[in-house]
Amino acid sequence: MKHYTDYSLLRHNTFGMDVRASHFIEYSSEEELQQLIPQLSSLQPLLHIGGGSNLLFRADFEGTVLHSAIRGITAVGGDTDTVLLRAGAAEVWDDFVAYTVREGLGGAENLSLIPGEVGASAVQNIGAYGAEAKDIIDSVEAISLRTGEKRTFGNADCRYAYRQSIFKQELKGQYAITHVTYRLSRRPRLNTSYGGIRDQLVKMLGADRLGQATVATVRQAIIDIRREKLPDPATLGNAGSFFMNPVVPRSQFLALQQQYPDVPHYELDDGRVKVPAGWLIDQCGWKGRNLGSAAVHSRQALVLVNLGGATPADILRLSDAVCQSVKQKFGIDIRPEVNFI
Ligand code: EPU
Repeated sequence: MKHYTDYSLLRHNTFGMDVRASHFIEYSSEEELQQLIPQLSSLQPLLHIGGGSNLLFRADFEGTVLHSAIRGITAVGGDTDTVLLRAGAAEVWDDFVAYTVREGLGGAENLSLIPGEVGASAVQNIGAYGAEAKDIIDSVEAISLRTGEKRTFGNADCRYAYRQSIFKQELKGQYAITHVTYRLSRRPRLNTSYGGIRDQLVKMLGADRLGQATVATVRQAIIDIRREKLPDPATLGNAGSFFMNPVVPRSQFLALQQQYPDVPHYELDDGRVKVPAGWLIDQCGWKGRNLGSAAVHSRQALVLVNLGGATPADILRLSDAVCQSVKQKFGIDIRPEVNFI
């Protein structure tokens, strides 16, 4: 176990905010975490982080930041069609995806290159290119930060929805996820219908050889698309999509479509319509614009970036200004996807 005081969080948030935590504790096994529980009451408030890729610290954190160092990927079962892989919460998500692809297993490849760790995939229900973590999560092992008791959540217990789970709602802050077990397919069915994947595959393989695509080629196509559009946090601080895509009633969408016939959208099963926040922000003219050291990314308006030395206040000022513009122009409220701490 590692315990630091007055600890810099610069390396633990991809936005690159230079903030500090009163305490930072990293544990490397379930037992270490359980031993720690009795002390936690005097170290409140607690914040459990993963890769820090979906956080915006508003200020120094006057409490204890917990981080798991539980790693390892092991096959724990399966059947003729599937394999169950159990991964430690601190495995880097994309290393896990790369592992599944090397093994020729299907289900995770569309989620390639998403920043963060395995534990967060189960909290946040990460998603991209027509896939979500919930589609492959079999179960989630977690330890109560109050009692130290271990609990295993089946997929349905996690109440997954778009970027939502029980761990972000009813049980927010109450459990530390230690392991996630995913069910991967031995006979991958490739999902190439979303957002330019096919075009990228045609570029890579040629139109007549599309049938030869594998999980590895789809992973490469997605990596190429993401690298093209999304800034690399190692060089430009950011937390991926800063906003969630708003969902509007059909009547409101139809009115919007009358005015903007080309508005991109996704139909939901309940009749409502999801409109890309990136498009709304782009239409407001924000793409590539900055307020001080905080900017709207020049290739994807959904992403706010730290041009260097931005403070939390700079990012919040920009976020507020962007939300106001979208509200004024379209009458639609957009909400941050990033967690404000
Ligand atoms: N668009 C614009 N201008 C922009 C950005 C987007 O016009 O600046 C338009 C695009 O042309 C496209 C539509 O908006 O027609 C959707 O854009 P895109 O597919 O790039 O992104 P998205 O659907 O808004 C979601 C996820 C991303 C994920 C992509 C790909 C959310 C909030 N974001 O974005 O997730 O990678 O789909 O599947 O759901 C993340 O969560 O950090 C993230 C990056």
